[in-house]
Amino acid sequence: MFNVKQQLTEIKNAAQNVLNDITSKQQLESFRIEFLGKKGKLTQVLRGMGSLTPEQRPVIGQLANDIREFIETQVNVISSKLEAEQTQQQMLKEKIDITMPGKKQRLGKKHPLTTVLDELTAIFTGMGFTIAEGPEVELDYYNFEALNLPPGHPARDTQDTFYIDEKVLLRTQTSPVQIRVMEKQKPPIKIIAPGRVYRSDAVDATHSPLFHQIEGLVVDKGITMGNLKGTLEIFCKKLYGDNTQTRFRPHHFPFTEPSCEVDILCPSCNGKGCRVCKNEGWIEILGAGMVHPRVLQRCGIDPEVYSGFAFGIGLERITMRRYGIDDLRLFFENDLRFLKQF
Ligand code: DAH
Repeated sequence: MFNVKQQLTEIKNAAQNVLNDITSKQQLESFRIEFLGKKGKLTQVLRGMGSLTPEQRPVIGQLANDIREFIETQVNVISSKLEAEQTQQQMLKEKIDITMPGKKQRLGKKHPLTTVLDELTAIFTGMGFTIAEGPEVELDYYNFEALNLPPGHPARDTQDTFYIDEKVLLRTQTSPVQIRVMEKQKPPIKIIAPGRVYRSDAVDATHSPLFHQIEGLVVDKGITMGNLKGTLEIFCKKLYGDNTQTRFRPHHFPFTEPSCEVDILCPSCNGKGCRVCKNEGWIEILGAGMVHPRVLQRCGIDPEVYSGFAFGIGLERITMRRYGIDDLRLFFENDLRFLKQF
């Protein structure tokens, strides 16, 4: 009996010693198995109780239970302590310093063509225009024929394009959108139609087989050249500043009559002639004119009742001028060193 008692006391002391050194949950678990497990120290001692007398058994049993309870309580206490420490440490680790600067998000930028297109769109929608669209793969009829360019017309030569077949092609201009709108919608009409156009041109600093135009069309009763001039003058002033001087120079387009080109006085030399305006003193901005009566008629609009004006702007040209870009190819190469500058 004395022997068993001593063994139990030793177990208690040993447990106490080990407990003081426990710093992790794994250690605590091995400790629990070592002392309280099925093959643990305490269990082993209790197995030997068979050799005790009936009087000794309850005494030793009581002692063994006290020690088990003691060890179990200790395990629970240490377990809670370790858990609290772990939570504390995690909170420290996950603490956010709200005074630190945030992580910088690298945002992309708009392509310069998009920026200028947005600006032009804003100017025209501000004047009451709405936006129309048409297909890039277009019928010869809309791209040429309905615009007074029948097969064999010499003006087709300047707009050589890519043919899908004899009747289907990549549009060379946004002007076919005029026809599509007038076929569907009766006046008053006041639209712009921005979009891609294609021509079979070799690539160089001022030519690309793909570029962008913005078409404009206004049709109503009593529209005159005065409306054309007023609208496009305001457009130039909004785009280039209130002091911009414009010039309407006679020109020829098959689908307008009369036709003109609109220039602005060169802002670099004020008309004296310089590199920017190639010594012209003026810079061409767009083509325009009064919609040809035959074009109106073909779309079912009576030219005796209605009249209209139209214009076409080259987006690349305007953008190049805006930013002083001297090579058209830069727009399409997607070189970040170029694109990041805008
Ligand atoms: N489509 C013409 C071109 O590509 C530009 C143009 C000129 C459009 C006069 C028009 C216009 O609507 O009236 O050269």
